[in-house]
Amino acid sequence: MKRISINQHVTFSKLIQGFWRANQWNMTHQQLNTFINQLVERGITTMDHADIYGDYECEAIFGKALDLSPKLKENIQLVTKCGIVLPSNKYQFTDGHRYDLSSKHIIASVEQSLKNMNVDYVDNLLIHRPSPLMDPMEITEAVATLVDDGKIKSFGISNFNEQQYQLLSHQLTKEKLHISVNQLELSPYHVDNINNDIITTMYQQQVKVMAWSPFAGGQLFDPLDDKGQRIMAVIKQIANRYGVSPNAVIISWFDKLPHDIMPILGTSKLNRIDQAIEGLSITITNQEWFDIYTATLGHDIP
Ligand SMILES: NC(=O)c1ccc[n+]([C@@H]2O[C@H](COP(=O)([O-])OP(=O)(O)OC[C@H]3O[C@@H](n4cnc5c(N)ncnc54)[C@H](OP(=O)(O)O)[C@@H]3O)[C@@H](O)[C@H]2O)c1
Repeated sequence: MKRISINQHVTFSKLIQGFWRANQWNMTHQQLNTFINQLVERGITTMDHADIYGDYECEAIFGKALDLSPKLKENIQLVTKCGIVLPSNKYQFTDGHRYDLSSKHIIASVEQSLKNMNVDYVDNLLIHRPSPLMDPMEITEAVATLVDDGKIKSFGISNFNEQQYQLLSHQLTKEKLHISVNQLELSPYHVDNINNDIITTMYQQQVKVMAWSPFAGGQLFDPLDDKGQRIMAVIKQIANRYGVSPNAVIISWFDKLPHDIMPILGTSKLNRIDQAIEGLSITITNQEWFDIYTATLGHDIP
C-alpha cells in the first residue's frame, strides 16, 4: 500500500484504520489483536485514536490488544488526539463538556494516552477541535515539550479552518515546529471541506489531509434522505460498471482529488476493508467524479 510522508521521521499508510467505535465491536483483546495484525498484513499500518473515544476507553482496549504481540508496535503508527473534555466518571477533570487546549491539559492528555496504549510515543498528535479560547502560545509550548521529550513524532490539527490553521501555524513556526496533518470530515456526502477550500490550502502548504467518516459514518449505505439516496444511486451505477463494491468507488472518489487524502476507515469488518483497498486499484473518470459530486450538490455545476 502507498505510504504518505508526514515528516522526516513518520510515514502513514494511504488507508488508515479508526478506532472511535472500537468499544462497540465486542471483540476480545485476542480478536482485536488478530484484527490489527490482519490490517498490518494488508498494509494498513496507521491507527487513529483519541483520548475520548469510547468514554475514554478505546485507547486502553487497543493497548491491551497490542500487548499480546509487542513486536506489532514496531510496525504501526499511532495517531491520537486531545483537547475535548467530555462528562464522564473516568477522570477527575471530566466534569463537563468543553475544549481544553491549555498546555497543562495537552501534556497530561498525551501522557495518559501513552499509558493507555502502553507505548513510549505516538507518531502524531492532533488537536481534536479548535477552541474559541485557544491560545496558540500555550499549544506551541505543549508541542515543544512533547517533541523534546520524544513523546510525539509529529503534530497536527483536526477540524481547523484556514484562519485557525494560520493562527497556530504562525506561532509554531517561530519555534521551528510544524503542522503536518489536518484531519477533516470528508466524504461524498460531506463536501463542505472541498467547497470551502481548506484542503486546497492544506495542499498548497503541504499539510497532509486525513478524511474522517469517509463513508459518512455508514449512512451512505443506508441513506435516509434524498441526498444520500441520490449519491448512492450514482455510486451503485459506477460500481456496477467496474464490477466493484460501492466502498471501492468511494475510495476511488477520494483518490481523484490531487491531495493524496488518507481516508480513515471506521468499519470492523475485514471484507469491507478489502473492498476499500480494492478502490485504490481502480480509477473512476473525471465525469464519474462529477456525477457523484453533482448528486451531492443536488444541482448541476455552474
Ligand atoms: N477528527 C474527528 O473529529 C473525527 C470524528 C469522527 C471520526 N473520526 C475518525 O474517523 C474514523 C472513521 O469514522 P467512521 O467510523 O464514522 O467511518 P466510516 O467508515 O464513514 O463509517 C464506519 C461505520 O459505517 C458502518 N458501515 C455500514 N455499512 C458499511 C459498509 N458497507 N462499509 C463500511 N462501513 C459500513 C460501519 O459498521 P461495521 O463496523 O458494521 O462495518 C461503521 O459503523 C473514526 O474511527 C475516527 O478514528 C475523527
